[in-house]
Amino acid sequence: SMLKIQAYFNETADLPCQFANSQNQSLSELVVFWQDQENLVLNEVYLGKEKFDSVHSKYMGRTSFDSDSWTLRLHNLQIKDKGLYQCIIHHKKPTGMIRIHQMNSELSVLA
Ligand SMILES: *[C@@H]1O[C@H](CO)[C@@H](O)[C@H](O)[C@H]1NC(C)=O
Ligand SMILES: *[C@@H]1O[C@H](CO)[C@@H](O)[C@H](O)[C@H]1NC(C)=O
Repeated sequence: SMLKIQAYFNETADLPCQFANSQNQSLSELVVFWQDQENLVLNEVYLGKEKFDSVHSKYMGRTSFDSDSWTLRLHNLQIKDKGLYQCIIHHKKPTGMIRIHQMNSELSVLA
């Protein structure tokens, strides 16, 4: 599925993950990240903690994760931020990572 998102230039876009969490999994067992259409990482919450190693410089300091709504806020929108984004959630198990959720959005930036 693909969500259509609109937000204004120089303002903030909400990139939803729409994770229902029907099994009530704790953030401490999940890896939650957003990437753009070039697979550049905007934000990563690794076992409950923000991790910056993989965040691309163009997104550094521009995002905030809302753990109540599972939404990523992207601040200070530029025209070139328009495009496709993915939220991906992995469950980290002793045996490895299992992808349990993915949400795609298409962001338009309004001038
Ligand atoms: C962007 O927003 C900031 C404050 O929110 C404002 O000071 C600045 O002038 C804005 N820049 C543009 C190009 O609109
Ligand atoms: C979900 O888990 C948390 C602790 O991780 C617990 O406090 C809460 O009651 C649980 N909610 C449901 C609906 O099971």
